[in-house]
Amino acid sequence: MEAKLKELQQRAILDIDSAGFTDDLEKVRIKYLGKKGELTEVLRGMGALSAEERPLVGKIANEVREEIESHLDKAKFLIKGKEMNKRLETESIDVTMPGAEITLGKRHPLTQGMDELKDIFISMGFQVAEGPEVETVHYNFDALNAAPNHPSRDMSDTFYINDDVILRTQTSPVQVRVMEKTKPPIRIISPGRCFRNDTPDATHSPMFHQLEGLVVGKGITLADLKGTLEVFVKKFLGEHTQIKFRPHFFPFTEPSAEVDATCFKCGGSGCGFCKKSGWIELLGAGMVHPNVLRNCGIDPEVYSGFAFGMGVDRLVMLKYGIDDIRLLYDNDMRFLNQF
Ligand code: DAH
Repeated sequence: MEAKLKELQQRAILDIDSAGFTDDLEKVRIKYLGKKGELTEVLRGMGALSAEERPLVGKIANEVREEIESHLDKAKFLIKGKEMNKRLETESIDVTMPGAEITLGKRHPLTQGMDELKDIFISMGFQVAEGPEVETVHYNFDALNAAPNHPSRDMSDTFYINDDVILRTQTSPVQVRVMEKTKPPIRIISPGRCFRNDTPDATHSPMFHQLEGLVVGKGITLADLKGTLEVFVKKFLGEHTQIKFRPHFFPFTEPSAEVDATCFKCGGSGCGFCKKSGWIELLGAGMVHPNVLRNCGIDPEVYSGFAFGMGVDRLVMLKYGIDDIRLLYDNDMRFLNQF
């Protein structure tokens, strides 16, 4: 029995010495000291020994166990150290390596343009007003003095939800909504989405953006409109930009005009950008029609006002040199990342 125990101890120590990893050590421990391990089996057979032999063999068996355990502990310590060194070598961090780039998103060019336009008007004392994109025929056409047979009312131009409800074709209805609720003096802009039943092409999108402006007060004249737009255009397109008014028709303003600016590429001498005219069409504007003021409960004998409306997509395209409106809605990162 004693010889068997000694032999067992030797084998265990050889096994321990040849273990390379902590996992191997655990296997060795189970093989000899586990519940069904070899040493445990030997101890179980001690019942067959005589009363004199038992304490003797028991003592040796305990020594063998202690020997194996202390050997295991030492080996574990050494192997752990080796494993740690290996990890330190292979998993070392080079703190001088450039870090992973964190890419920040950026605002869409339309949002950038819209923010710039808003900033300019806010700096001139305008407040931002909002109106619904799903609008009534009343606010979009009737209250804005549009004749019953005005072509823009046609189904081919306007998206109808039902006979009375549409997707707004312009931001002008916000004028009416503001004037109904607010007493003059009024000085607002209203940026937002508009919708028209257009087939998309380089210059048309069924959804686009406008920015509306409205000023109502006592003694407001065309000169105020001109001055306001002049300041705006110089800030938006450059100090040397000039504007001109071309007579036009809008149902809700009288007189009405289309406003052009000198081309910011050639300064007005004519180039490919402005189709050799020297001018770029910017926006529509005019003096608020007395009928519109009356429709909103404002006395046109006491108050007057001016209004203007511009296509934000068009202005952004002009400013950034974008030649197709659809690019603004494709969400192609290769395009958007350029702005
Ligand atoms: N709502 C007009 C359009 O969509 C633009 C416009 C013209 C707005 C003249 C105005 C204005 O406020 O006075 O074509």
